[in-house]
Amino acid sequence: MPVVTTPANLRPAAAALDDNEARRIRNDFPVLGEQVNGHPLVYLDSGATSQNPTCVLEAEQEFYEQRNSAVHRGAHTLAVAATEAFEDARVKVGGFINAQPDEVVWTSNATEGLNLVAYSFSNAALGRGGSAAEKFRLGAGDEIVVTEMEHHANLIPWQELAFRTGATLRWIPVDDDGGLRLEEAEKIIGERTRIVAFSHASNVLGTINPVNLLVSLARRAGAYVVLDACQSVPHMPVDVKALDVDFAVFSGHKMLGPTGIGVLYGKSDLLNAMPPFLTGGSMITTVTMDHAEYLPAPQRFEAGTQRISQAVALGTAVDYLTETGMSRIHAWESELGQRLVEGLESIQGIRVVGPPAGMERIGLASFDVQGVHSHDVGQFLDDQGIAVRVGHHCAQPLHRRLGLVSTTRASTYLYNTTEDIDAFLAAVAGIRPFFGVK
Ligand SMILES: Cc1ncc(COP(=O)(O)O)c(C=O)c1O
Repeated sequence: MPVVTTPANLRPAAAALDDNEARRIRNDFPVLGEQVNGHPLVYLDSGATSQNPTCVLEAEQEFYEQRNSAVHRGAHTLAVAATEAFEDARVKVGGFINAQPDEVVWTSNATEGLNLVAYSFSNAALGRGGSAAEKFRLGAGDEIVVTEMEHHANLIPWQELAFRTGATLRWIPVDDDGGLRLEEAEKIIGERTRIVAFSHASNVLGTINPVNLLVSLARRAGAYVVLDACQSVPHMPVDVKALDVDFAVFSGHKMLGPTGIGVLYGKSDLLNAMPPFLTGGSMITTVTMDHAEYLPAPQRFEAGTQRISQAVALGTAVDYLTETGMSRIHAWESELGQRLVEGLESIQGIRVVGPPAGMERIGLASFDVQGVHSHDVGQFLDDQGIAVRVGHHCAQPLHRRLGLVSTTRASTYLYNTTEDIDAFLAAVAGIRPFFGVK
């Protein structure tokens, strides 16, 4: 297998983790010691969901063993302790992205966060939220701009908002190297644009999008910016204030945390002017038989009993990532990503989608094996203990643009080593011969 090094100009400034550190980190993740189909597990599916270190598993268990209670309403000791742990986690997660605690709304995942914004805006279009929410009202003639590389989670909620309000959905096309066609973006984002929603990093292509440029185009148009940070917040330092986005979403399960918890970041003045999405208990000040007044953010968006142990454990995950160093994680994954792409590109009959080797990308690569369906590829690799994702990765329009129905994706995280990548590449080299494809 060729030895691949990331070109110096693409290497993030901080010293990367290395194989020794990644091997030490692996010891914190019980599942990574498992055997799968008689082979040591090679886990290359963190883009879908990441694994959990023992401290995160223990944080959740400890919550149930020592502090389990509903938050905010109880006068008893456990309820106070649970509330403290829940709110401490909010402070930690806010600090991780440079947001104030009241700008962090707990959701069940990124998908819910995106729906929350879209449905809140469609409630504003119905007149909910009064004059404060007028600025969120969309109607015929208004435009919502997304990109052709979006995960369905950052596409369908905007289709729905367009349907409900009469607004028009437009999208920035993708070029052949998996980048956005920025000259088109400049034409598409204009005075009719009210929302620009895009992913920071693509879950299929690995492309890192130019947030600053897109934000400045949106600002010029007076549009709100919604950032899908699912593939960036877990993998690189993200400062929502420096990026100046209005909203950002990410999922806990992709950043060493449990499933069932996600985050919507929103600028405080916007969140406090937006009508709620879900309504019910815990988000009100006063209720009569025909009317309700709502709490300020974030509680106004946290109806019903919350995902408390999950939030607490996500706080522990954030501690773990912070101690390891996000810049170092990003630098390491960039190296692993380049090794993946260069290795794949050197195998006959493999087409890698997204930026070619040597160009910036996050630590994942999706590819097509000529003549072999991605599901067969996935099974072949699984037989050797290698876990990857196959299919359209919730990005059907992007696959259509690439002229493919599906791809296979290998995605890395801080616990992956160069041995993982090399084992994977060696296995991929055997796919076409195994299936008898010439
Ligand atoms: C870029 C991107 N956006 C959104 C999502 C949706 O995340 P979740 O299913 O956790 O809501 C994913 C998950 O794969 C993703 O990669």
